[in-house]
Amino acid sequence: MDLAQLTHDLEALAAETRAAVAAATDSVGLESLELDVLGKKGRLTVVLRGIGALPVDERPKVGAIANQVRSGIEAAIAGRRRDLGESELEARLAAERIDVTTPGRPFRRGSLHPGVEAMAEIARIFAQFGFVVHESPEIEDDRTNFQMLNIPPDHPARDLWDTLYVDVPGYLLRTHTSPGQIRVMESTPPPIRVLLPGRCFRYEAIDASHASEFFQVEGLMVDEGTTLGDLRGLLEAFAHGMFGPGRKTRFRPGYYPFTEPSVAFDVECLVCGGVGCPVCGRSGWLTILGAGMVHPVVLRNVGLDPERYQGFAFGMGPERISMLRHRINDLRLFMENDLRFLEQFR
Ligand code: PHE
Repeated sequence: MDLAQLTHDLEALAAETRAAVAAATDSVGLESLELDVLGKKGRLTVVLRGIGALPVDERPKVGAIANQVRSGIEAAIAGRRRDLGESELEARLAAERIDVTTPGRPFRRGSLHPGVEAMAEIARIFAQFGFVVHESPEIEDDRTNFQMLNIPPDHPARDLWDTLYVDVPGYLLRTHTSPGQIRVMESTPPPIRVLLPGRCFRYEAIDASHASEFFQVEGLMVDEGTTLGDLRGLLEAFAHGMFGPGRKTRFRPGYYPFTEPSVAFDVECLVCGGVGCPVCGRSGWLTILGAGMVHPVVLRNVGLDPERYQGFAFGMGPERISMLRHRINDLRLFMENDLRFLEQFR
């Protein structure tokens, strides 16, 4: 191996590599070419191994040529890589082109069921008066659904609630949320302010205003010195929050076994403003809930002294509230889950 031979080999390698670089068609091929020539075990290294056989004074010359060859190849590869990169990017951009002006697919946006919406609104209003939401079971026992509420077995008051029983003796589907009152009073000492929303069940013939499954929202307050006037003021604030400020309200006498006195709470008709129309049955009033002072027997049943504690309770149907607010004329719509109905409440 002499200087001339080595120089020749280097230049041959340089020429061959430049040609190969120019011929490379993609950056992957270029990469392997680079490794093949300039890599640790590449062809340039192999050629340079011959340097060791040269006389010491000739080695720097070959070293200089080798450096030139190496940087020449590096520059050629870098240039080619740039060109290939550009055309590859362009090819990709062309292949993956998207039309950003195409209209998107619309999202199907859900909405709250009007019954759920009404319950949330009821809870929001009573929360301002310190009422917290509790839940109680849908499958109840006879004792809690009836007896503790001053409705003894075989008492005619049971006819107020047509009951669906389950096939476990002593158990039934709750006919109202009032058993929740018992559960709260049995587990929590006064003062009590709770709201009990939930599904109720009755053995009913279904029509535009009756369902066998519906919701109620029950309210209960128990404290020392609670009065019917407190109940009246609270319900009036509720009616104003729900149906608009300034609406007239009234108490009428009512009957429930677990409250005494019992009342029906009416709001001035939302449609005719009290003049009388078909919606309010020409009375000018709409009944929105039943209420009353917790019966002393009920207080005693849960171990509270009626001389010390008094309470009031109220119960309403959120579907009915929603029907009044949105002028919905058929209760069955709440159960049918017809999107054409539900999508109107956004
Ligand atoms: N539970 C009664 C019903 O279902 C409503 C009610 C609740 C009345 C609380 C008075 C007090 O009809």
